[in-house]
Amino acid sequence: MSDRLKLLTPATLTLENKSYSLPTYMGVEGEKAIDITKLRSQTGYVTLDDGYGNTGACESAITYIDGEKGILRYRGYPIEELAEHSRFTEVAYLLLYGELPNSEQLLGFSSRLNESSIVHEDVHHFLSGFPRGSHPMGILATMVASLSTFYPVPDQLDEATEIQIVANLVSQVRTIAAFSYKKSIGEPLVYPSIKYRYTSNFLNMMFASPVRDYQPDADIDSAIDMLLILHADHEQNCSTSSVRTAGSSLANVYAVITAGIAALWGPRHGGANQEVIKMLEQIHAEGGDGTEFINQAKDKNSGNRLMGFGHRVYKNFDPRAVVLKQHCDKLLNKPGLNDPLLDIARRLEEIALKDDYFISRKLYPNVDFYSGLILRAAGIPTDMFTVLFAIGRMPGWLAHWREMIHGEHVTIYRPRQIYTGEILRHYQDINQRA
Ligand code: SDX
Repeated sequence: MSDRLKLLTPATLTLENKSYSLPTYMGVEGEKAIDITKLRSQTGYVTLDDGYGNTGACESAITYIDGEKGILRYRGYPIEELAEHSRFTEVAYLLLYGELPNSEQLLGFSSRLNESSIVHEDVHHFLSGFPRGSHPMGILATMVASLSTFYPVPDQLDEATEIQIVANLVSQVRTIAAFSYKKSIGEPLVYPSIKYRYTSNFLNMMFASPVRDYQPDADIDSAIDMLLILHADHEQNCSTSSVRTAGSSLANVYAVITAGIAALWGPRHGGANQEVIKMLEQIHAEGGDGTEFINQAKDKNSGNRLMGFGHRVYKNFDPRAVVLKQHCDKLLNKPGLNDPLLDIARRLEEIALKDDYFISRKLYPNVDFYSGLILRAAGIPTDMFTVLFAIGRMPGWLAHWREMIHGEHVTIYRPRQIYTGEILRHYQDINQRA
């Protein structure tokens, strides 16, 4: 336990007429925890916590969330201030190394990202092997895992190699994403350029072409850069927990990040931004105002949920959704960027926030509810929305991986279970089976 955890009065647990004392701790923001690391050896019991909603897997100094108050801070800085004043590369440095960089540190970090932005030319053999219509998340997961073959990771990781690995992943995730898009539309690949900053470089790789000069729109560039900031980390979410789980076995870091990409792909996690747009397009196509869809979302038997609503932690507004809604209003008011889906989104939010079904379950818009509208305005195809989420989340995943491997000790993740299957029975010859 770190010295930033304050020891509180122990908890007393009474089981089968015996009392046990369990240490309790409080973090720097007042979160309290019962330390159950010795529970099984002392009592023979384990805990059950479906989805780990009540279980702290670790201590962390990276991101703080207060779900009841709708607070999100990266290394102590409120997300609203970072979204307003910072750039994604600066926030990536903050998450990875704990402090906002000074000018020299930021220049060095940005230069390293630029030098690391080219993927090994042999990677193109993989790209040409994917069937037409391959989902970009499937391509991203495969290509990131393949980086482990191009950049061998030594068993004893030295600082210089670790810094380069971080730069490779933060930088090349853009290149791979853009290459997969160009491949999907049959256009020639556009390489990273030293002329552009991080986000503009990505947009240029996505939309430039030998026959079409592309000048990233400044408002779109800043909206996408802000969107990457908002997605950069979110403490122990599903994909970050997957990174920590895979990383706890000391697996190859490129494979560990692939575990995060795989988990993010799910429609209940990072895949929700794509599902929100599909939902809004469906409502738009049906000419509805969303009322019917809201009724379906409330009906368990419909199989529909109001995508972009609800959260495991936020039982109040997701502060990222608040920032994104403001940027949506600003960006989509630009000439030529108006999107009828925004009006539908606003209508859905208005109806849901007055409906007791959502109020009683504390279901509010989350980060995915408005993010897709900004991505659409930037011309990003819907099936690449979760890829953009992965680009944003990359520094967060790597920050948690670094925090874990540099911790006092790396404990392999190995949860227990309660077995409810068949009790002891013996093998039967096939002729004796029913
Ligand atoms: C992200 O963890 C993170 O930090 C994730 C993330 C990050 O930055 O990494 O913030 C990114 O994943 C955001 C969430 C994106 N997912 C979606 O928008 C998909 C739609 N939302 C849901 O599937 C759901 O809200 C979850 C999965 C996000 C949260 O699920 P919970 O908190 O476990 O809620 P639950 O499944 O236990 O549901 C509680 C009740 C249920 O009804 P009852 O059984 O009580 O009657 O609320 C209902 C649910 O049916 N419910 C919804 C709903 N979400 C929950 N009903 C309709 N629409 C919804 N969206």
